[in-house]
Amino acid sequence: MKVMIVRDYDEMSRRAAEIVKEQILKKPDTVLGLATGSTPLGMYKYLIEMHKNGEIDFSNVITFNLDEYIGLSPDHPQSYHYYMYENLFNHINIKKENIHIPNGVAEDLEEECKRYEREIRRIGRIDLQILGIGVNGHIGFNEPDESIETKTHIVTLTEETINANKRFFKSIEEVPRRAITMGLSSIMKARKIMLLASGSNKAKAIKETLKGRLTTKVPSTVLALHPDVTIIIDKGAASLLTDEELANVELTD
Ligand code: F6R
Repeated sequence: MKVMIVRDYDEMSRRAAEIVKEQILKKPDTVLGLATGSTPLGMYKYLIEMHKNGEIDFSNVITFNLDEYIGLSPDHPQSYHYYMYENLFNHINIKKENIHIPNGVAEDLEEECKRYEREIRRIGRIDLQILGIGVNGHIGFNEPDESIETKTHIVTLTEETINANKRFFKSIEEVPRRAITMGLSSIMKARKIMLLASGSNKAKAIKETLKGRLTTKVPSTVLALHPDVTIIIDKGAASLLTDEELANVELTD
């Protein structure tokens, strides 16, 4: 795994946006895997700016989001549909038909998972998968467990995740308990993976991820098996790493 330790959130966001830009310049019909949450917001701002400056054309880009809350319709302000349009899609020239996000209000949720999985397969593989990381090491909403389903599936969110995400809702009762998430198999099939983390609340999860010890109790540890992962972290997220752990990875700048 390549690890880039940067000064702060803004630098993480700028470096991440540069990598996305390079990818789209190299392959205009890039398939991007996208994350929501606080972490990629800065990167999306930079991507919008780059698009407005004429540096990136999204007209042939295809996107697949990692997840969506069950029970929130696309027009719900806390749904990941809403988030993506508000923070990226409304500001760039992506085609609506090239956007894919699981439908959290589908009548048949199991069928929706199968449909999403078929859509990913139909397109082939994700070229660049962008990931955030949960405080418990989840990627997408693949939560720590004894075993983890590998395909797109319905997941019950852990208390840790519900607590971490309550900041977006009026009260903890409003946080959905379930979500649809892309499985680890599609994430791991991506040609390239870029994981972003900022702040000391992510330091423990990053330390576990870089240990090189695989466990379903920390889903991000699976990334050690992928041949092309770049992790961009700021000083806070890197704060618990020892020299020994850093010696296991390729430091890059
Ligand atoms: C979001 C997602 C999650 C988040 C993670 C970190 O689509 O899949 O894995 O990336 O929960 O969230 P933030 O960035 O809000 O700390």
